[in-house]
Amino acid sequence: MSLLARADLEQLDRTDPLAHMRDQFDLPRGVIYLDGNSLGPPPRGVAARIARVATHEWGNGLIRSWTDAGWLTLSTSIAEKIARLVGAEPGSVAVGDSTSINLFKLLGGALAARPGRKILSEKANFPTDLYIAEGLIRHLGRGHRLQLVAAETIAAAIDDDTAVVMLTHVNYRTGAMYDMAAITAAAHARDALILWDLSHSVGAVPVDLAKAGADLAVGCGYKYLNGGPGAPAFLYIAPYLLDSLPLPITGWLGHADPFAFEASYRPAAGITRALTGTPPILSLTALDAGVDVASQAPIEAIRTKSLQQIELFIQLVEQECGDSLRLVTPREAERRGSQVCFAHPDAGAIMQMLVDRGVIGDFRPPDILRFGIAPLYLSYTNLWDAVALISGMLNENPFTQRAERH
Ligand SMILES: Cc1ncc(COP(=O)(O)O)c(C=O)c1O
Repeated sequence: MSLLARADLEQLDRTDPLAHMRDQFDLPRGVIYLDGNSLGPPPRGVAARIARVATHEWGNGLIRSWTDAGWLTLSTSIAEKIARLVGAEPGSVAVGDSTSINLFKLLGGALAARPGRKILSEKANFPTDLYIAEGLIRHLGRGHRLQLVAAETIAAAIDDDTAVVMLTHVNYRTGAMYDMAAITAAAHARDALILWDLSHSVGAVPVDLAKAGADLAVGCGYKYLNGGPGAPAFLYIAPYLLDSLPLPITGWLGHADPFAFEASYRPAAGITRALTGTPPILSLTALDAGVDVASQAPIEAIRTKSLQQIELFIQLVEQECGDSLRLVTPREAERRGSQVCFAHPDAGAIMQMLVDRGVIGDFRPPDILRFGIAPLYLSYTNLWDAVALISGMLNENPFTQRAERH
């Protein structure tokens, strides 16, 4: 393979069909942002949009804005946009609460739908997914089990005692991606439900929940959807389960007639039942802006650029840093999401120095340097400049010379 030069990456920028999307974001000058898989940057104009809602709709409209400004239906319209991004049927996605709370709702529903059976998940799943499962089981007090296995053995571990298989589609630490259709089919073969956490997938990789036959899903609004810090999350319930899944959180906005203020809960029809309480309008305003930007570019174009950028990043690291960094993300394109990770014994110190010099990725203990690839605002020359900085730092500082092989 011939060596890459900065000019090669400049040429790719000139012909990049997504290059214009960068103008849709407000990114600080001098920063190369490789952490959009943790917190996406603000869409251009979002601060003014929030200010308008605060001043006009809240300030002038006051309580009238629940109806006059469409506040009551805002979460539904965002949910329909997110549904299109994840291949969900219309009316099967709800927006609100956090990913953690949505996990609680859906796991609670799944355990009730498959009584007496266990939750199966991956040891290296994102902690909140596992903590929520533990807390739910403790709360139910009926001896449910949470079984954790290695990613490679998930399919084999699904058995007739499994109520729900709960997995994060793209692993937060390594960037490894499951074959959604294959694992979903394996769960269904044992009459288990599947619950996908799409936090690292939505807006980054093509997802088709309906085609895969998935039952349940959740996901974050603040990563590749650029919905702002703590943005409301989303959940998906397959249409065939919508009226039968017994959800454990029964808030008034999930009631069949919330403004009748009845003394007893009656579930609304369809996905509305999954809503909980008063929607956070200022946060939803930011999320709406982020989802609109994410919806502007075809996901196939985003995926093509993401895969090419990761390939180039790996090639540049190997070219410029020798074997100092060990690749952790799978090499096969179809097995990874939109981030690239390397291990190094001094990863924490290296990342701190990178961030201090304007290349923002993140460190995941004990030894992982994690770089999120968000093709909507990341240029090809950004990759060159980031790797040049990493290589210079590795040469100039007394870091452990070589990543341990393990
Ligand atoms: C896979 C995954 N699930 C859930 C969360 C966070 O959930 P919450 O929005 O409740 O903080 C994250 C956050 O990084 C995540 O990576």
